[in-house]
Amino acid sequence: MGTREKVEAVLTRARRRTAGLTDCLDDSDLVAQHSPLMSPLVWDLAHIGNQEELWLVRDVGGREPVRSDIDELYDAFKHSRRSRPSLPLLNPAEARHYVRAVRDKAWDVLDSSTFRGRPLEEHGFAFGMIAQHEQQHAETMLATHQLRSGAPVLTAEPAPRVGVPVTEKEIIIPAGTFTMGASDDPWALDNERPAHSVYVPSFEIDAVPVTNGRYLEFMDDGGYCRPELWSERGWAHRCEAALEAPQFWESDGRGAWWRRVFGVPEPLHPQEPVVHVCFFEAEAFARWDGKRLPTEAEWEKAARWDPTTGRSRRFPWGDSDPDDSSANLGQRFLGPAVVGAYPSGASPLGVHQLVGDVWEWTSSPFEPYPGFTAFPYREYSEVFYGGDYRVLRGGSFGTDPVACRGTFRNWDHPIRRQIFSGFRCARDISGDER
Ligand SMILES: [Fe+2]
Repeated sequence: MGTREKVEAVLTRARRRTAGLTDCLDDSDLVAQHSPLMSPLVWDLAHIGNQEELWLVRDVGGREPVRSDIDELYDAFKHSRRSRPSLPLLNPAEARHYVRAVRDKAWDVLDSSTFRGRPLEEHGFAFGMIAQHEQQHAETMLATHQLRSGAPVLTAEPAPRVGVPVTEKEIIIPAGTFTMGASDDPWALDNERPAHSVYVPSFEIDAVPVTNGRYLEFMDDGGYCRPELWSERGWAHRCEAALEAPQFWESDGRGAWWRRVFGVPEPLHPQEPVVHVCFFEAEAFARWDGKRLPTEAEWEKAARWDPTTGRSRRFPWGDSDPDDSSANLGQRFLGPAVVGAYPSGASPLGVHQLVGDVWEWTSSPFEPYPGFTAFPYREYSEVFYGGDYRVLRGGSFGTDPVACRGTFRNWDHPIRRQIFSGFRCARDISGDER
């Protein structure tokens, strides 16, 4: 597929998803704030259009603004999510009209693009960046749907409930250097660049993400009541926020747990990866299990390193883009699949479901790679480096394939759990295990 066809496909898919997440709600639901952690959906909608206008219409296209009077309202750095409902936002009809007008101009810009010249235009980078941006907001909007109360509005077929047995529980990743990050992937973002060599000592990583069943064992063993399992900060947060279970879990008081999934109560599936846990909960589970969270470099080596060739793949299964058989991505289902459901997406060493299903917390803070250059602007990544964040990897069922790669880095505050976050554990290995 040529660059033009690829851009057309990813922009069209992004807009279909945005429409699917916003057309199903009436105006009052679109302007409401469903959680102080989230924007009103109508803000996300017009912000998607505004970023597209700034980068594709005005910068790449050099066209007249569609609306220059609203840039400030939709600048994510000017207004906190909490404050956005009180802004004089476009109403839903105006926002829909705006994003359509911007998209019409963007198609026009695409028609005359050569994908050569400035770095922003090389290989259609700006178009790829805008498609990723819209899909990232589509995942954020999906998280808003999960927080919303009221009658369910989203429907999807259930995620796969049957997986192959994964007999090896832990996989040894031998010591050595591997190539981390991306230099040649044309749509990789600035924080994924440049590719560089990293030495990783040998370690063992869980073959599958931690499941609801395992997590329940941790809870039944007093996991939420034992400070020694938690970091000092984690325990303080567990007490202050009164954490007792993953977010959206509900107990019947007699030992059975349910999960509210986009407004629908569902029994917990023991073989599904746990989702909606914060970094501190993941850390406590890992200590309970005699393990730790993987570093970001360990996660990426487990996902990309091919022991036969010594090179790093784009994805665990190879260099080809994800499809329905390799990973649970793209909001095809409204939840993670059971472990073992994607054997053809496993890494060469046999680590399953690194991509898709749930974002995986790592122990690493968000920092630049050696040789990092901010592109196309500092606010994309640079201003977040060194902040109170932990890196998450691999994408979730809510992440579109265009916004997910073996090198893709996500980051969030360690207390956040409205995101589709889970984890897997790792551990150091002793000499005789190597
Ligand atoms: Fe944004």
